[in-house]
Amino acid sequence: MKIKQQFLFFTALLILVIGCKTNEVEPKKPAITLRNVYEDAFYIGTAINKFQIDESDSVMAGIVGREFSSITAENEMKSMQIHPTKDSFNYEYPDKFVALGEKYNMFIHGHTLVWHSQLSSWIRSIKDSTEMAEALKNHIQTIVGRYKGRVNSWDVVNEALNEDGTLRQSVFLNTMGEDYLALAFKWTSETDPKADLYYNDYNMANAEKRKGAIKMVKNIIDKGIKVDGIGMQGHWHLNTPSLEDIEQSILDYSALGVKVAITELDISVLPNPDELVGADIAQNFQNSEVMNPYTKGLPDSIQVKLANRYKDIFKIFLKHKDKISRVTFWGVSDGQSWLNGFPVRGRTNYPLLFDRQLKPKSAYDSIIALKLREDKQLTK
Ligand code: XIL
Repeated sequence: MKIKQQFLFFTALLILVIGCKTNEVEPKKPAITLRNVYEDAFYIGTAINKFQIDESDSVMAGIVGREFSSITAENEMKSMQIHPTKDSFNYEYPDKFVALGEKYNMFIHGHTLVWHSQLSSWIRSIKDSTEMAEALKNHIQTIVGRYKGRVNSWDVVNEALNEDGTLRQSVFLNTMGEDYLALAFKWTSETDPKADLYYNDYNMANAEKRKGAIKMVKNIIDKGIKVDGIGMQGHWHLNTPSLEDIEQSILDYSALGVKVAITELDISVLPNPDELVGADIAQNFQNSEVMNPYTKGLPDSIQVKLANRYKDIFKIFLKHKDKISRVTFWGVSDGQSWLNGFPVRGRTNYPLLFDRQLKPKSAYDSIIALKLREDKQLTK
């Protein structure tokens, strides 16, 4: 090699070696995503539907894999879907759902084992207490057993309470009496002792219902049966529930010695029918222009309100991150949200962090900025 060529060759080699070294010393900073930014606080989850489980839209699939550290199946593990008749189980989508969570190294949440809604008709029609106990036990053991060690937590019982904190007159209560609650937790923990077991409900920030939930969960724990957590479905609005009630509920639930999860977070920006009770999916109201004001887009002023509301509630979540295990949004994008159809069909709602074009909204920016700001203050 001529001297000049040799010189160039060795200089290039030197640059390469130094380059590699610098990379070793300073690892690349993780990308700014919800999942990464909140990693040291709690899991950030989302509910996904069939189309997202299939990853049929690559942009959507990218968002799910990048932004979230936990997933819940929006419908695919509900009794009606997974166990439609006494002797048949539908595992296609539940299996794909669990495999997806493993592919992205996510915390996988199972929703839900015992719920009066979206309940298979064969269970709904049971009248006898022994028959109901057998059906529930078999349902739980089969499903929890199939995903043992892979599904990390379960909503064992969903929405067992009325608004005044008394027990809902569901088909389970009517056949088995209140024993069904403790038995459901017992059968689940026997089948997968390592999974975290939750009681999950809406309007859990409401003081009366909160008292009932605490009493109910305490009764189960006092029997020596394990309950690991309470899930507060966050189907909330721009002004309700109050921040005080949200914070007090987190404190009260956690005082029972269980984890608190915010399980189904979405904030409706639309008017609410006066008669609506929480997120009872059986309720439906008439659509009208007054009830559906933002069909052509969300006004900036409301976009800002939504971003501030998300920031305010995340401030509370961060303040109590030692008590909170997971915050799961009920969907990824506005276009996908169930709130376009509930409690009034055919509306245009804007409750989530990504818009209909799958672009992050100001609400997304506000909760990312909040956490980065807090991290900065902590390192000062
Ligand atoms: C909703 C789903 O998002 C809808 O797609 C479905 O049509 C009805 O159920 N509480 C729950 C969730 O625990 O399972 C519900 O999900 C919303 C209220």
